[in-house]
Amino acid sequence: MRVSSTVADLRRWLEGWRTEGSVIGLVPTMGNLHEGHAALVRRAQALCDRVIVSVFVNPTQFGAGEDFATYPRTPQDDERLLARLETDLLFRPEAEEIYPFGAEEATRVSVPGLSTILCGASRPGHFDGVAGVVLRLFTIVRPDYAVFGEKDYQQCLLVRRLVTDLHLPLEIVMVPTVRERDGLALSSRNRYLTSTERLRAPRLVAALRRLGARMEAGERDWATLEQEAAAELEEYGFRVEYVRVRRTEDLGAPRPQDPPASLRILAAARLGRTRLIDNLPVFSAVEPSGS
Ligand code: PAF
Repeated sequence: MRVSSTVADLRRWLEGWRTEGSVIGLVPTMGNLHEGHAALVRRAQALCDRVIVSVFVNPTQFGAGEDFATYPRTPQDDERLLARLETDLLFRPEAEEIYPFGAEEATRVSVPGLSTILCGASRPGHFDGVAGVVLRLFTIVRPDYAVFGEKDYQQCLLVRRLVTDLHLPLEIVMVPTVRERDGLALSSRNRYLTSTERLRAPRLVAALRRLGARMEAGERDWATLEQEAAAELEEYGFRVEYVRVRRTEDLGAPRPQDPPASLRILAAARLGRTRLIDNLPVFSAVEPSGS
């Protein structure tokens, strides 16, 4: 596996691979890689001849008081896992490489609508930071495919929209969430959980599954379903940011004519100092394995 920390070095490798006619895949990450990321790499490998994984803890997507400074950085473990997966290239730039004029002075991009609802409402500016870094990674690597995890469903839709709106010549691929045996979605932030919080954390997906089961049983009063799921989580000690039933396609509020199969349940809640997010399509919500 090659390891590049500069755009110039990365591009040298890419040029060779493009000359060979290789299909190029990109998996953008912030490191602290786990089985969820491994699933993204494997999906990229199934679609592409060469796979590049970027590891970059992007400062512009963290708000003031968020966990940028403490975000887990595990470069050696990441490198070992990616080598074991037979990744072609690990791109591990410093901030100056990504933001040549500094993060504060960086050209900004913003995807209207999608960037200010749900997680965007509780994390102002977060999705502008994501859009900015993802666009840079796309212009640096110029991949044919870029692979993202469905756990960050809103991020996936936002990136798809950015790609369509800016006519970027690549396809965004989404990979289903990988879960622990007890249902908890894998996330780098799970390591912030204390052992008692860890035992409680799967209540989040359990609440979403119960909400899905009620929808499958014919209930359609979204507001009540959402409120009851949120109340259930609060009882277990979560501080709920939102529980919402939304259209899978664009995360808009469901209209009366929308069939339940076209809807998704999304939630964000804090347990202690850990912010957890999760989402499920309505009809997979009732499957016990859930992934
Ligand atoms: O999902 C993530 O890890 C990040 O938001 C991403 C897409 C790598 C951009 O920094």
